[in-house]
Amino acid sequence: MRDLLDRIKDFVVYDADVEFYAKVFPESVGRKELMRLRKMNRTDLDQVVVIEIASYQFPWGEDIFRDCINMRYQNWVCEIGDEILGYGIMSMAVGEAHILNLCISPKEQKQGIGRKILEHLISVAYTEAETMFLEVRPTNIHAISLYESMGFNEIGVRRNYYPADNNNREDALMFALELI
Ligand SMILES: CC(C)(COP(=O)(O)OP(=O)(O)OC[C@H]1O[C@@H](n2cnc3c(N)ncnc32)[C@H](O)[C@@H]1OP(=O)(O)O)[C@@H](O)C(=O)NCCC(=O)NCCS
Repeated sequence: MRDLLDRIKDFVVYDADVEFYAKVFPESVGRKELMRLRKMNRTDLDQVVVIEIASYQFPWGEDIFRDCINMRYQNWVCEIGDEILGYGIMSMAVGEAHILNLCISPKEQKQGIGRKILEHLISVAYTEAETMFLEVRPTNIHAISLYESMGFNEIGVRRNYYPADNNNREDALMFALELI
């Protein structure tokens, strides 16, 4: 029973009252308050892939998102109503959490959604992991600025990690956050 309750709690992180107030007193509820985080499922993938393609030059295919769901990674979306605004994907094993993707729809960026999802992933990792890792392109200054502001430190470089133009490869910067 406890396990079931934990799974339900895991599925929805949301204050249901907000939706009620939004319907009855629309003026009283801001857009940010209507944003909710929940676990990603297969029916989200059409929207997720549209955001992915709009956001990256070398996007993940739907098959990779499916694998992440099948692997029961920490796959989260942020949404308002039925519209997905962004998502974050993290694997966890043997004391290490690894952020594999964090992506906000281009039209929804710079409103604090990336930070909100990252904070949530950190809070999830905190329960089981000692260190969080991620890779980022050195040219992705906005993402680097977000990670540094959340306490991540650069710990190294993975050579030729990412695909780049003209069949070239680009290095990845590795960042880590100690959770203990
Ligand atoms: C990187 C990304 C996830 C940030 O998400 P976001 O919702 O736009 O970011 P937030 O509004 O939460 O901003 C958090 C911080 O990120 C940095 N940042 C994000 N967008 C920025 C911009 N356009 N200019 C400058 N800093 C920016 C800032 O440090 C910001 O903190 P501040 O608001 O206190 O200045 C988002 O830009 C994105 O999805 N980019 C495309 C996919 C991608 O590159 N993902 C990361 C892969 S490693």
